[in-house]
Amino acid sequence: MLTVSDLHSGYGLSEVLNGVTLEVPDGKLVALLGRNGMGKTSLCRSIMGLDPPAIRSGTINYNGTKVTNMPPFKIARLGLGYVPQGRHIFGSLTVVENLAMAHRSPAGSSQGEDWDLERVWEMFPRLAERKANVGAQLSGGEQQMLAIGRALMTNPGVLIMDEPSEGLAPVLVDQLGERMQDLKRSSLSMLLVEQNYSLALKLADILYVMENGRVVFAGSPEELDTSEDVKRRYLGVGV
Ligand SMILES: Nc1ncnc2c1ncn2[C@@H]1O[C@H](COP(=O)(O)OP(=O)(O)OP(=O)(O)O)[C@@H](O)[C@H]1O
Ligand SMILES: [Mg+2]
Repeated sequence: MLTVSDLHSGYGLSEVLNGVTLEVPDGKLVALLGRNGMGKTSLCRSIMGLDPPAIRSGTINYNGTKVTNMPPFKIARLGLGYVPQGRHIFGSLTVVENLAMAHRSPAGSSQGEDWDLERVWEMFPRLAERKANVGAQLSGGEQQMLAIGRALMTNPGVLIMDEPSEGLAPVLVDQLGERMQDLKRSSLSMLLVEQNYSLALKLADILYVMENGRVVFAGSPEELDTSEDVKRRYLGVGV
């Protein structure tokens, strides 16, 4: 279980996370929604130990270990996998090289099958077809699959994905949603940052909405979908 308690983080003098509290229970998919600039990426970066932003106060705990202000490589080694916004794959390395360099054995006792190249090819057959191409030769959708595949190769206990559907055509968003359903079935815990409301609603067990560095809603898909006020005020849905 990943827990964030009363987290304050900021860039220089400006505070962008103003006391965020959030949980990702084991085996659940938690979606984090919110408009542009509300602090979603800043929260992901704080969890992963990436500076900036700098953490001012609060705690981040993963499976009983306090990871607040640990170096990023240690946090990753404990089992937190990260798909950053904007993909960030290595453009001059091949698909196989991008994946192979990320490969790591699971941190704790693993539930089910471990991730390796074969399992990534099964999940994303398109990547198998392009395995010898370098990252820069892939389409946006293929790069996104590669970014997710690379995070899975670290055999994470929790996978944090920052707007994986951004910039994808609707048909690819649907395919991505199906792959996430597969990951849910494998009991992987996930924190999914999304601006695509219907995708988040379809996939999530629990949803959080952020506004100006604060959590303004936490609840089930049913609760969010019937909270017209929250949807209108913070998500611009149904206006
Ligand atoms: N490196 C930085 N230096 C200073 N301010 C930053 C930096 N990165 C982000 N910010 C500011 O912090 C706030 C939160 O940004 P953040 O990237 O976390 O938002 P977000 O919710 O991920 O937005 P988006 O949906 O557009 O990705 C914004 O006001 C942004 O301008
Ligand atoms: Mg962002």
